[in-house]
Amino acid sequence: MSEHFRVQGGARLVGEVSVVGAKNSVLKLMAAALLAEGTTTLTNCPEILDVPLMADVLRGLGCEVSIDHDEVTIVSPAMPNHRADFASMSKLRASVCVLGPLVARCRKAVVALPGGDAIGSRPLDMHQNGLRQLGATTGIEHGCVVAEAENLTGAQIWLDFPSVGATENILMAAVLADGTTVIDNAAREPEIIDICVMLQQMGAKIEGAGTSTLTVHGVQSLQPTEHRVIGDRIVGATWALAAAMTRGDITVLGVDPGHLNLVLEKLRTAGAEVTTVEQPRQGFRVVMDGRPKAVDFVTLPYPGFATDNQPFAVALAAVAEGTSMITENVFEARFRFVEEMMRMGADARTDGHHCVVRGVEKLSGAPVWASDIRAGAGLVLAGLCAEGVTEVWDVFHIDRGYPQFIENLQRLGADVQRVSAPPER
Ligand code: EPU
Repeated sequence: MSEHFRVQGGARLVGEVSVVGAKNSVLKLMAAALLAEGTTTLTNCPEILDVPLMADVLRGLGCEVSIDHDEVTIVSPAMPNHRADFASMSKLRASVCVLGPLVARCRKAVVALPGGDAIGSRPLDMHQNGLRQLGATTGIEHGCVVAEAENLTGAQIWLDFPSVGATENILMAAVLADGTTVIDNAAREPEIIDICVMLQQMGAKIEGAGTSTLTVHGVQSLQPTEHRVIGDRIVGATWALAAAMTRGDITVLGVDPGHLNLVLEKLRTAGAEVTTVEQPRQGFRVVMDGRPKAVDFVTLPYPGFATDNQPFAVALAAVAEGTSMITENVFEARFRFVEEMMRMGADARTDGHHCVVRGVEKLSGAPVWASDIRAGAGLVLAGLCAEGVTEVWDVFHIDRGYPQFIENLQRLGADVQRVSAPPER
């Protein structure tokens, strides 16, 4: 049965919300468990659809995986199976991060390509080029990336773009290569630091985590470990924007506010009062009294404004006072959802990389369709500020990235429900 979220707009969101581990970290950390024989334990894992899907990918490679609420335990075999088939891989794109670990462990990988994506093309050329420079041969055969290497040898690798996925795959291959690898123009996302920390705990020798230059001194083998996943900065940003848009007051705990510096600064410019919460329950509070003022946003790799937050920026601009320009520099098709927001009365125009949004006083509830995780969450935020009811369909996208989304919204005072019913199109 198809499900949708029914959002009755108008509530001011007030209260406290806890953020757990980051989707875009846990999935890679699960893949990293392939690098060491034995039992790896991950804690603070989000209870989202993508975690069991990634568990299935790992089971197909010979791992035993158990999930107990926020704890994922992976028992990695002495020699994983090197073939990841289409049936499990096609369900989530993040599954391509098994490529690097498989090449490192098995010296061979056949990894089915997950296929297209609603946010734009997602080639693997930089992943493959990096592996080639480490000594592997690689190509696409019958819908799979095939990579093989007698030996992996450290190399100097320059990435054309600080790709998160390419950095991770090359890093996970390099930790077990002979000699030293330098990855230049590496991604600097907090999730990259997280995987470096876990790999270091496993015995990897890595310098420069969080900078553009990662230096990896290869080791013979790694040991399994226990690791706590970092808080999800994209979920944190979703709540921050929700507070600003609903003229609310939300305290977000469990995420490092330093990972959201630019988001929080933009919200201050929009008129919000933002304070940070110190350890042990790290987080921040966003309070907004009046209507937000228009702000421009430009997406860029970290520490720039994350492309994943862009739909929330468009939603904020849609109800802000004035005109905002939102520029998308990472994924070429990431404005697709704007059509849906326009059906809610958003005054927005897209042209290539740019979206101009003239804020309106109130949006108007409508049935809308989510095309990816963040677009779906952005439509829910818009629905919170709309007159009447917004139905957000295809919510399985949202379930892939947001644990307890509806429950958290309800706790903050939103009038939202998950409804099982066929769509009236
Ligand atoms: N790119 C290439 N060639 C490559 C790799 C990437 O041209 O070999 C391009 C992509 O097409 C894109 C840009 O480089 O235009 C950035 O892609 P990147 O590799 O950094 O993204 P990713 O690793 O595929 C992760 C997140 C995305 C997030 C991006 C950017 C995961 C599972 N996914 O994707 O998150 O938007 O980094 O920060 O970590 C989401 O969570 O909803 C999501 C899409």
